Amino acid sequence: MHVYLIGYRGSGKSTVARLLASAIQWPMVDTDEIIETTSNQSIRDIFAAEGEAGFRDREEAVIHEIASRTSPTVVATGGGAILRAGNRQRMEESGLRIWLQASAEFLYRRICGDQSTDARRPNLSDQGGFSEVAEILAARRPLYEQLAQKTVDTEHKTPDEVVAELLDWVKSKV
Ligand code: S3P
Repeated sequence: MHVYLIGYRGSGKSTVARLLASAIQWPMVDTDEIIETTSNQSIRDIFAAEGEAGFRDREEAVIHEIASRTSPTVVATGGGAILRAGNRQRMEESGLRIWLQASAEFLYRRICGDQSTDARRPNLSDQGGFSEVAEILAARRPLYEQLAQKTVDTEHKTPDEVVAELLDWVKSKV
C-alpha cells in the first residue's frame, strides 16, 4: 500500500513526501522526477516536443509502474496526475491518497517564488499567470476532492507542520 500526495503545483507535494517518507522510513519517489530522468528531458521540453498528451502518456506509464510495486512508497505526483481516470483508479487500488490543498491565491504566490518553475514547468494554458491557476484549480478541484481520503490545508504551514498533521492518520492506516 503506497501513500500518494496529490494537489496543485506549489502545494508542497515533493517536500512533504520527502519528510513524510523519512518519518515513516519508507522510500519516496516523485513522478515528475522519474519522467525527467528516464526521458532525459525537462517536462517543459517534453511538452514542447510532444504536447501535453505526450507528457500525460509518460506520466500514466510511470504511475502504472509505481502502482504495481510491492514495497510501500510515498509518491509525490504531478499536479495533473489526477486528470486521467486510469491514474485515479490505480491510485485508488494501490494506496492512500492525501490532498495538499491551498487557495489559488496562495498557490500562485508559491509558484512565483519557485526559481525552478520557469525552467522546468510548462504553462498549462495560453493564459499563464494567476488566471491560469484559478481556472485550472477550479476545474480540477472536484477530482482532487473525490480521490482524496484525507485533505490537509497547507496555507501558512511549513512542510514539517503539514507532516505533523498527517502522521497519526497515515500511521493508523498503513
Ligand atoms: C503539471 C504539474 C507539474 C508537472 C507538469 C504538469 C500540472 O507537476 O507534472 O508540469 O498539470 O499541474 P508539479 O505539480 O509537481 O509541479
